[in-house]
Amino acid sequence: MKNLDKKYLEQTASCLMAKDKGILAADESNETAGKRLADIEVANTQENRRLYRELFLGLPGLEKYISGVILFDETFWQKSDSDAPYPQFLSEKNILPGIKIDLGAKDFPGFPGEKLTVGLDDLPERVKKYAENGATFVKWRAVIIIDEKNNLPTPQAIEANADALGRYARICQEAGLVPILEPEVLLNGPHSIAKAEETTTIVLKKVFEKVQEHKVHVPGLILKTSMVIQGDENPDEASPEEIAEATVRVLLQTVPKNIGGVVFLSGGQTPIEASAHLDAIAEKRSLPFEIAFSYARALQGPAMQIWKGKPENVEAARIEFKKRLQLNTLADAGDYDISLEYSD
Ligand code: 13P
Repeated sequence: MKNLDKKYLEQTASCLMAKDKGILAADESNETAGKRLADIEVANTQENRRLYRELFLGLPGLEKYISGVILFDETFWQKSDSDAPYPQFLSEKNILPGIKIDLGAKDFPGFPGEKLTVGLDDLPERVKKYAENGATFVKWRAVIIIDEKNNLPTPQAIEANADALGRYARICQEAGLVPILEPEVLLNGPHSIAKAEETTTIVLKKVFEKVQEHKVHVPGLILKTSMVIQGDENPDEASPEEIAEATVRVLLQTVPKNIGGVVFLSGGQTPIEASAHLDAIAEKRSLPFEIAFSYARALQGPAMQIWKGKPENVEAARIEFKKRLQLNTLADAGDYDISLEYSD
């Protein structure tokens, strides 16, 4: 067993959790990037995907709001408009480059409707390759589906995904990379906020049990979690206050106090909801660890609608992106107000 460089891991985690900054998730797979591009009627080519990344990563001053960027493999090896490979391009701006390292959530054999994230087999070799080329942190996403009619999630899906998260985290820490563990409880479905709370509690408890079993250094890891919200087909919408209360309750019950930090995914919330909910959580000031945003859609979505793949729209799209960065930075400090959405 390799020793861990615990101090180094803690330092990286604390850089990622720098006050008033978030972690940009720019790690959509080629397939998902294709969906985002199709929404604005842009073809899913390699160069269009690069231009999509460049729109966001090339924002002048990105480092004021973003401590780290999670890249997808293709982007990791591509070059920015300034001809620097993206990991180097980001490092030069004082932004930590990270990589989505899992190989996707696949059908879980024997468990219809459930997913198991794969990618452990050659993980040590893959991690080494990214570390040698500038990655300082990694992300692994597991997907947990709530489907009450079919009694999902099953304990087996929770166990298998949590175990993979624990193993992944240890392997990456041995290579000196900070693991982000992302067990996403999906928003899809008609379930209540109470069901989301119950499920998220069970999932996070299991994840931290596995973290302990696999001897992962907790101050050198980051949890990326869903907020606790009712399903998107449930008309009974919880208020930001209720969502914040439920989310804080779950985190206080399940997350070790000495964790490197906790970041939130947006998961299909609208950009305004994602900001308002983060703000409500931060306003409680009751969590013993740093929190931050780590959104993809809620940061990039509005700018994509303006960009539409056209060079002449880049500037206006970046203004919109910067607005979301500014508002989420305020939300992270509990200083966001909905009226800011409508002021210049
Ligand atoms: P969303 O914020 O769009 O949910 O994406 C975050 C993420 O990293 C998904 O894996």
